[in-house]
Amino acid sequence: MPTPKAFYVTTPIYYANAELHIGHAFTTLAADTATRFQRAMGRDAWFLTGSDEHGQKVDQAARAKGITPLQHTDALVAKFKDLWKTLDIRYDDFIRTTEERHQKAVRHVLSQLHEKGDIYSATYSGWYCTPCERFWTEKEVPEKLCPDCKRPIEELEEKNYFFRMSKYQQALIDYIKAHPDFIRPENRRNEVLGFLAQPLQDLCISRPKKRLSWGIEIPFDPEYVTYVWFDALTNYISAIGYPDDMARFHRYWPASCHLVGKDILTTHAVYWSTMLLALGLPLPEILFAHGWWVLSGGKMSKSVGNVVNPLDLVAKYGLDAFRFFLFREMVFGADAMFSEESFVLRYNADLANDFGNLCQRTLPMLLKRREGKFRHGAATLPQSAEIAALARAVKADYIKAMDNFLFHEALKRTWDLIGRLNKFVDEAAPWKLAKEEKWAELDEVFWLVGEGIRFCAHLVQPFMPGTAPKFLEQIGLPVTFLPLPQLDWGQLPDGTVCREPSPIFPRLDTPRIESLKKGDKPDKTEPAAKAPRAPKHEAGAAAPAGGAAPAAATTVPAAAPTPAATDGLIDYDEFMKTHLAVAVVETAEKVAGADKLLRLTVRLGEETRQLVAGIALHYQPEQLIGKQVVIVKNLKPAKIRGVESHGMILAAGTPDGGLAVVTTDKPAQPGIRVK
Ligand code: MSP
Repeated sequence: MPTPKAFYVTTPIYYANAELHIGHAFTTLAADTATRFQRAMGRDAWFLTGSDEHGQKVDQAARAKGITPLQHTDALVAKFKDLWKTLDIRYDDFIRTTEERHQKAVRHVLSQLHEKGDIYSATYSGWYCTPCERFWTEKEVPEKLCPDCKRPIEELEEKNYFFRMSKYQQALIDYIKAHPDFIRPENRRNEVLGFLAQPLQDLCISRPKKRLSWGIEIPFDPEYVTYVWFDALTNYISAIGYPDDMARFHRYWPASCHLVGKDILTTHAVYWSTMLLALGLPLPEILFAHGWWVLSGGKMSKSVGNVVNPLDLVAKYGLDAFRFFLFREMVFGADAMFSEESFVLRYNADLANDFGNLCQRTLPMLLKRREGKFRHGAATLPQSAEIAALARAVKADYIKAMDNFLFHEALKRTWDLIGRLNKFVDEAAPWKLAKEEKWAELDEVFWLVGEGIRFCAHLVQPFMPGTAPKFLEQIGLPVTFLPLPQLDWGQLPDGTVCREPSPIFPRLDTPRIESLKKGDKPDKTEPAAKAPRAPKHEAGAAAPAGGAAPAAATTVPAAAPTPAATDGLIDYDEFMKTHLAVAVVETAEKVAGADKLLRLTVRLGEETRQLVAGIALHYQPEQLIGKQVVIVKNLKPAKIRGVESHGMILAAGTPDGGLAVVTTDKPAQPGIRVK
């Protein structure tokens, strides 16, 4: 009997030419979290990461230091591994492209494709920059200067080897169309299909040794080494036994998911997929391209020197707070803005106030009033059944989200339960029950909260492997996690005695938070706190707040007429009464019983709000998730089909009678005013 296929997840192998930053840490933590989740589900899982060590950049970096390329990459790889250890990343294998097992597989792939006629030699001509050691096409160099270093370039002819990528273009298009879940999220899939709509060139896969010797020698021509991407992509199969141990290989291949940043989607979706098609190997099940962490000043980049070092954040705030922040803050698939302020705000709101405080506000009382003992009596409170049902629904949604790498969604759902439990404590007022000596009711309140803490500790464990056990310890349980399929509401044993709690996530008070508390607005463009005037309602529209009707969706609600507005023109002040803002769609779902309406939650900086939009006939909910939209922020709240709507999403009519939501041309800071 062959062993059943395991869950196999990979990260990109990072260039061993410089140190890693928060962006690299992010992808690797995503793979770690996904693997921990799969194991919690009781599945066999394998997590691969590694280092990309060949190529010009590595060669140059080593030369600059006066050491050999391998000495240079050895030192960096040690640092990579140290970082992964500090971040509690438990990879199963680390592949280096300088290892023999990898080089052997690359040579095998090259020989196979060469024998098949899918690799051929041809003369390549182009414009060459000697200092940068790279070719440019005619179109890229209208002034015959290197676009990078601005030095003169020369026309050069060179023999090279090419991979017949064009031969597989149609097969790849057909495959992507037949497998809608292969490239995720959907907008990235469309991007790839857009790219493939143009004729695909064959891929130059060699470099003459006289120009670059730091690479894997081509088996059929010792004067050449192979191109770094051809080399690097093969790591995903060389690490699992290809071609020598095919039994092992088939246990893992096809990969369940290649996690990559959006910067390297084309190389994976097109180069790698066509290589696999040529080799006759199945394509990976999922190729997930997540967005970038950006800073308010733009993209993080080593050359600009504005990178965020994960170690600094971990040292300051703790590892699990850092891990939690990354996956709660970023809609997996979309870009996210990093700022330390948003980190602190989210930490205080979700970790210190919500989850941490659930323990802090109940366990000391349990110790004082009931000897710390959770007593599981008859469920008489009206909330008991409701909370049990919520917990089970949250678990089901959490599993679905995690299976689809929607980490933010899984955490958000978990926090729905935490939020409900905190609200329940407010409603039940245990301090009052204690005063009135209503012991049975009080015991039920404590048991529900204790059970909630246990339940949530299980759900957060893949994200916060260090602190999840502490929650179990505080409620007096041994640190053993049930496999998630066995986790159910009601398993906190009667008679469990809690421990004296110590704050797991103590509140952070930075001077900045203090100034926010004093009323300084984070967004300097916030309007004066004046009540907005009532918008004019479109006749026939379901309701304008939330853009429920196509016509309303395209119209900025007008303020009450003023003299300036009567001729159709308004002055700037009038326009500024409408507060338009950038928002990121976090969740979207159909409103039951209303086929035109979607209920959206959107994030504006630190604020999340719900709105209803009349766009359900034009967008599937999942197409909107992660999208940056523009909303009218200061529209009066309204109830649409019983659902509260706080704002209106802007959209424009399309020639085919459809609707296109308004978005920004480049990622903008969520919450920023549009004017
Ligand atoms: N060596 C290639 C990958 C070969 S895979 C067969 C490479 N390496 S890299 O060191 O440049 O790493 C790129 C990856 O780092 C991105 O795809 C992404 O996973 C991660 N990130 C780097 N910067 C990032 C952000 N600012 N934000 C999020 N992730 C980003 O490309």
